[in-house]
Amino acid sequence: MKHLFLISTLTFAATVATAQNRPDVNIDEAKVPKFELPDPLVFEDGSAVKTPDDWKKRRAETLGLFANEMYGNAPTAAKITSKITKTIPDFMDGKALMREVEVYLVGDEAGPSLTMLLITPKSVEKAPTFLTLNFSGNHTVHSSPEITIPTSWMRMSGDDKKSGRVIKNKAQESARGFKVNRWPIEKIIDSGVGIATIYYGDIDPDFDDGFKNGLHAHFGKPDGPKAWGSIASWAWGLSRAMDFLETADGVDPKKVAVFGHSRLGKTSLWAGATDERFALTISNDSGCGGAALNRRRFGEKVKRINTSFPHWFCDNFLKYNDKENDLPIDQHQLISLIAPRMVYVASAEEDTWADPKGEFLSATLASPVYELLGKPGIGGLSEQPAVNTPVGETIRYHVRTGKHDVTDFDWEQYLKAIKSL
Ligand code: GCU
Repeated sequence: MKHLFLISTLTFAATVATAQNRPDVNIDEAKVPKFELPDPLVFEDGSAVKTPDDWKKRRAETLGLFANEMYGNAPTAAKITSKITKTIPDFMDGKALMREVEVYLVGDEAGPSLTMLLITPKSVEKAPTFLTLNFSGNHTVHSSPEITIPTSWMRMSGDDKKSGRVIKNKAQESARGFKVNRWPIEKIIDSGVGIATIYYGDIDPDFDDGFKNGLHAHFGKPDGPKAWGSIASWAWGLSRAMDFLETADGVDPKKVAVFGHSRLGKTSLWAGATDERFALTISNDSGCGGAALNRRRFGEKVKRINTSFPHWFCDNFLKYNDKENDLPIDQHQLISLIAPRMVYVASAEEDTWADPKGEFLSATLASPVYELLGKPGIGGLSEQPAVNTPVGETIRYHVRTGKHDVTDFDWEQYLKAIKSL
């Protein structure tokens, strides 16, 4: 028996080259364990949530559980100040207004700040606007030489090093425009939509530094296992960016969509859950710690993410390594916290690491909360739709063909969603 098991494991490993080549990772639907999920519409004391008023209380309870057990608690926000440091009135052949804005996160120019690149269409007085974080610097999303290169600590992959795009964790000129394939800014502007983007490392550098850098350093090391991790600090930074957008010319603050890919998709979901000013929340391939259900233990699991990225979550989350069933919440409840506002969950077929089916299940299982609040949710769908077939209304979902990435197909759907607000 043992021998047979070994053979089948080897066969399995050989056929899953796309699953990050990790034979210890389950990507076999037949091996997903049986589990029971917490009901978003039942209070912790077992009583039922029956009315929108009940939901307000259950929402607060659920938000507290996610903050205490998973993402950590952020400090209360101070009032920001901001400075427009660059304006190009005729950007993109005169179609757009480009601004760079320094947002002082605690209202103090000597304190932490982020640099926002804001591009808005001139065709619209107040444009619906995507608010986004980027992985490699604002200068990578568009090839304009006008865009300022970040000076904050920059993540550096082997490729970045080899190509000289990042040297000693500092961004370089040669990276200008190198991510344009993920950022169809021309199409966004031509659709009458604006885009704001921020290098996420401006808010907090993405490594386990024991609260010594970025925002964490400013607030000092808080005690206890409920203190915010990096995802919560990036989301907090998005809220401060939103503080600025609420007052920005050319932006419709009632139609701001928060967007993120991968770890930044986890971040956009937490931002959408914690900040009700975001009219639309978009999770692109967010996976574990984002839209994917923990209890499925498919692709990346809690233990794995806590081991590779110990700084992303609060220390309490470590309790759930290999004990997903002990979690008082699961990720469908994260989506439900966004109700009744619009949410878009997107998966990629080959992105088994992020568990596309688990992402879909979260989206559909949040639907009852939307319905309680008088919104259509995902429209009664219980089966994952065919590839490249967007579904849903206030909760929207698609799984597209291809890999972990952000593609034109994804953006076409997000544009439709933001235009429908
Ligand atoms: C890793 C990590 C994922 C994350 C991704 C990313 O693959 O395991 O959880 O989403 O990085 O952000 O690029």
